[in-house]
Amino acid sequence: MAARTPARPDRTDGSGSSDPADGSAAPDRTARLVVLVSGSGTNLQALIDAIAADPDYGARIVAVGADRDGIAGLERAERAGIPTFVVRVKDHADRAGWDEALTRATAAFAPDLVVSAGFMKIVGAAFLARFGGRLVNTHPALLPSFPGAHGVRDALAYGVKVTGCTVHFVDDGVDSGPVIAQSVVEVREDDTEDALHERIKDVERRLLVDVVGRLSRDGYRIEGRKVRIPA
Ligand code: GRF
Repeated sequence: MAARTPARPDRTDGSGSSDPADGSAAPDRTARLVVLVSGSGTNLQALIDAIAADPDYGARIVAVGADRDGIAGLERAERAGIPTFVVRVKDHADRAGWDEALTRATAAFAPDLVVSAGFMKIVGAAFLARFGGRLVNTHPALLPSFPGAHGVRDALAYGVKVTGCTVHFVDDGVDSGPVIAQSVVEVREDDTEDALHERIKDVERRLLVDVVGRLSRDGYRIEGRKVRIPA
């Protein structure tokens, strides 16, 4: 399968953002990002800072969504003046209901790309039906090794000498979608999970900023498991 999925609003598949649902008129050709978070939000902050620093970055964050209240990620969004929404699993009868509510809340901001940046929930069928091929996740290990919620801990326990991070498109598996980019981090003899994770996150933030900018500016194609970004 070859799917052209440009992140730019001039997309040709009819699902773009020419009519933003948040009422704002698109003032330029930057891609609209919704960023999903569950915790500290330092990857979100890196995107906020990169966008503020570079008028040619090619994207803007139109909303930040979370699955819980009271997290630093939401505070970072509010400080930056970015609209936020929270969709909690416990407010819905079942997981499918939560997934549909998350899909509606995200779709209301008409994103070109959705960035899962430390979002600790697996989205379901409704979300993937709406945003499949446009949902980017960052994972703190070199996939396909060490998928799941404990990628750093599992890599350390396995005894690998290098690990790292992976930015990938999300499919219906756990951290199994097409890889966009990866960076390597060396494991130290005396590493702890926290120390290793901090060094991974340092690299991960830069990788995410680079990838989201390139997808937004240049568009991309997903061809089977291969992601192609025009040079
Ligand atoms: C990142 O390492 C991400 O890959 C993982 O959780 C961390 C989130 O960090 N799933 P932050 O919330 O962006 O600071």
